[in-house]
Amino acid sequence: MSSLNSINSVLKESRRFKPSNQFVKTAFINSAKKYLELWKKSIKSPDSFWKKQANESLVWAKPFSKTLEWKLPHAKWFVGGKINVAYNCIDRHVEAGLGNKAAIIWEGEDGTRRILTYNELLNEVSQCANALMELGVSSGDRVSIYMPLIPEAVVSMLACARIGAMHSVIFGGFSSDALADRNNDAQSKLVITADGGFRKGSFLSLKDNVDEALKKSSSVQKVLVFKRSDRACKMKDGRDYWWHDIVYRQSIHSKCKPFDSEHPLFLLYTSGSTGKPKGIVHTSAGYLLGATISFKYIFDIKVSDTFWCTADVGWITGHTYVTYGPLSNGASIVMYEGAPNFPDWGRFWSIIERYKVSIFYTAPTAIRACIKAGDDWPKKYDLSSLRILGTVGEPINPEAWLWYHEVIGNKKCPIVDTWWQTETGSAMITPLPGAIVTTPGTATVPFFGIEPEIVDKAGKPVKKGHGGFLVIKKPWPSMLRTIWGDDERYVHQYWSQIPGCYFTGDGARQDKHGNYWILGRIDDVLNVSGHRLSTMEIESTLVSHHAVAEAAVVGKPDDIKGEAIVCFVSLKSGFKASEELKLELQTHVAKQIGALARPDQIRLSDSLPKTRSGKIMRRLLRDIAAGKVSTQDTSTLEDFAVLAALRQDDDI
Ligand code: WTA
Repeated sequence: MSSLNSINSVLKESRRFKPSNQFVKTAFINSAKKYLELWKKSIKSPDSFWKKQANESLVWAKPFSKTLEWKLPHAKWFVGGKINVAYNCIDRHVEAGLGNKAAIIWEGEDGTRRILTYNELLNEVSQCANALMELGVSSGDRVSIYMPLIPEAVVSMLACARIGAMHSVIFGGFSSDALADRNNDAQSKLVITADGGFRKGSFLSLKDNVDEALKKSSSVQKVLVFKRSDRACKMKDGRDYWWHDIVYRQSIHSKCKPFDSEHPLFLLYTSGSTGKPKGIVHTSAGYLLGATISFKYIFDIKVSDTFWCTADVGWITGHTYVTYGPLSNGASIVMYEGAPNFPDWGRFWSIIERYKVSIFYTAPTAIRACIKAGDDWPKKYDLSSLRILGTVGEPINPEAWLWYHEVIGNKKCPIVDTWWQTETGSAMITPLPGAIVTTPGTATVPFFGIEPEIVDKAGKPVKKGHGGFLVIKKPWPSMLRTIWGDDERYVHQYWSQIPGCYFTGDGARQDKHGNYWILGRIDDVLNVSGHRLSTMEIESTLVSHHAVAEAAVVGKPDDIKGEAIVCFVSLKSGFKASEELKLELQTHVAKQIGALARPDQIRLSDSLPKTRSGKIMRRLLRDIAAGKVSTQDTSTLEDFAVLAALRQDDDI
């Protein structure tokens, strides 16, 4: 844990946005009062709250006898109950007469289009489940899924859930080494992949990567391959099976076997900021409940909605809000395979227009990239179908929030800024769109059943307005259960820093309205002359300058100040790097935040090193700022050229 006691919070943003009367009229939770009443009840009597939710939102094969068994830090939710997750995501909707409703509306980057109704999804998932069993997979086995963003990725996840196998989805942009590491750690028996997928106009051969990875991961016995293109693809006899040979000849009937509430559903690797990826383990009923009710209330989902979350299924957002949350609610989702700028920066907006997307959920990094590309792109398309916008993944700076609100939402769509983690399974701090007044940059208030607190190093609550460590005081159903193969690390990392509480690793502060402001990862906090500053707040201030597209701020050891502030900044198109501009940016930050935060160094570059999910990798920038050769794990880095360019720029 960081040696800091608390964090000085300097960002002040006070503009407040209320949902419109028209929006409020139809919202499930339509006033702050109603939200607060329900939230208080959920905190006061969590057992009865979760019991009621679990019985109302899910279909059980066998009712549970006890809501929670809590032996800190190990939770068992809905003890004695039996459930099938895939049944809840598909069969129950078909049985309710929704079989002809679109479940997945898919568009490939190359323009291919497909719609799968709930009937079709049920057939394909059943066939895939039967094929997995024929290939020797059974309940409790691990299956790696390494696919492009195509419907079969979701089909594969649900087929695993149907037969009780654990899936481990590995983002298709990861290298063969990353895949091999994850196969080995999970001891996966089977890999489901495709010959490849389209990204930024090129075809990425995933199968070649699988072949490479399998040289180093001997637990994998078989490979199931979906054919996405007409290209030739090498297949190894007795090991590799075409999807169209083995899946489509199966029966469209498959029994949904009930599994224990705590039966493991999936593991998902997350890098954390310090290297070795850890396999986060989620189980069945609790995870599904968190996904189901958070999706329903946060996106205020109605039968007529078309929901689009741009995340890849390789991330937790793609698990909870592409797959499990929407499908458990019987919603129609849009899925898009490719890049936001292919063939041009109008792609997102054209998809919204084409399918009349009503709820759009994306990451601040994507929003900033679209801002950089210019307003002309969204303005070419009819975005009037939108009624709610969402963000996730990082704190959103007010400038990006306002652009999203005005240019994409036409000032009429509430924005839900959802704070959560791979580990939390579902959104934890978030506005409910018809109830909560929002302010750009804050994820606002806790979801039902979630009790956050901001504490200092000793675990004492800090005063309102002060920054500190964000912890969660009570267990919740969709929480991670352990780290795969490393329960000790689970106990140490999440439950030992502040005794009795779940340690999020994020800093936060609460304002006078009760809103939570996430200050970013604690590891990213600077200590300048004894003052602890959140890098996020300095970044946000930099981005409020009209020339700046993105910024990443890191500390560099400094004999006098402790840490010096180094800012990596990329400019909007049309702006040129110059010494004057650097000076202007330094002055801008000093003026907005105070002289203490005046950057010691501004480094201008075309782009910043990011993970493939769009998070800036500050730990790499720290090494560059310090002039060190990095020995850190770069397996999650998206573009290596960016690092090389930044290093060359040493003396800018
Ligand atoms: C950050 C993504 C501010 C945070 C679902 C968290 C956010 C980490 C927000 C988890 C948000 C996520 N505002 N920060 N709305 N959402 N974060 O595991 O630092 O990929 O701890 O899960 O992202 O990232 P992960």
